Amino acid sequence: MSLIAGKKVALLWGGPGSERLVSQKTGEGVATALRALGAEVVEVDVTGPDFTLPDGIFIAVNMIHGTFGEDGALQAILEARGVAYTGEDAATSRVTFDKELTKECFVKAGVPTPLSQSFRLDGTDKLQLDLPVVVKPPREGSSVGVHICRTAAEFEAAIEDARKFGSSTLVEEFIEGRELTVGILGDQVLPIIRIMPVDGFYDMSNKYPWLTGSGKSEYQCPAELPAEVTSAVQAAALAAFKSAGCKVYARVDVMLRERDMKPYVLEINTIPGMTPTSLLPKACNAVGISYEQLCESIIQLSLQART
Ligand SMILES: Nc1ncnc2c1ncn2[C@@H]1O[C@H](COP(=O)(O)OP(=O)(O)O)[C@@H](O)[C@H]1O
Ligand SMILES: [Mg+2]
Repeated sequence: MSLIAGKKVALLWGGPGSERLVSQKTGEGVATALRALGAEVVEVDVTGPDFTLPDGIFIAVNMIHGTFGEDGALQAILEARGVAYTGEDAATSRVTFDKELTKECFVKAGVPTPLSQSFRLDGTDKLQLDLPVVVKPPREGSSVGVHICRTAAEFEAAIEDARKFGSSTLVEEFIEGRELTVGILGDQVLPIIRIMPVDGFYDMSNKYPWLTGSGKSEYQCPAELPAEVTSAVQAAALAAFKSAGCKVYARVDVMLRERDMKPYVLEINTIPGMTPTSLLPKACNAVGISYEQLCESIIQLSLQART
């Protein structure tokens, strides 16, 4: 019998951010799985802090990607209300959602990560890295606002766009190589997935063709890599997860530099997509963990992490 059989569970989906529609798809998949596990599932569309939860729930399953759901804000509210919930706690989520704070953890723990600069947008800063660079807002997801800049003109345009998101932006050394992602479930590191966008980089349309109506990516899982490279990538992903204080589950994005096959960790996603085509379920599938088992593990690991 499953851990949640006969229990009432709230499935939180939506959120006010740019990843709302992805969260909706994730929520549909997870709700179906939780029902198959025997739970009574109440779906709650969360658009901001004033949401109502049903009485007597065993746990709130948080499937809200991005702003509010993944950044610690929702977690802090659930903690204040004394409700058990899935995923990392508020403090950890605040760090992992912020690519600058995450990078500090990586650097302190010796996790390999691209060189970077926090770039002020008031016109007083100068680029200290060599082109090409990547400009990205520190607190967004789904490749929103990410620009790969190969020329000074492209960099200027990216800086102009970055003003939409805040008063400073993250600029990173561009890593030429393969795009990988590594799922982690408690202390289990899942097989590496290689992502191959058919055209361009892993931007919004190549991530969610079903949402944007364009773009495409191909995936290889487990990624075909020499054994020692596989170990190095998985070790870097696990070290990244631990360096930020993660305990439950996440998907760690890694670039593998082509010229020396060295891994560079980009970021940690603590509420990764769980749509039918998403990567974490794919990685689980490769080691015989079904979608339903993944959902149950997330609940079990979350309860364990906070006792
Ligand atoms: N330093 C980098 N070098 C090469 N490509 C990068 C770099 N940073 C980001 N990218 C590309 O942009 C995508 C999105 O960046 P990422 O840091 O994962 O942010 P998010 O997924 O939260 O938008 C990556 O999947 C990768 O394709
Ligand atoms: Mg990413």
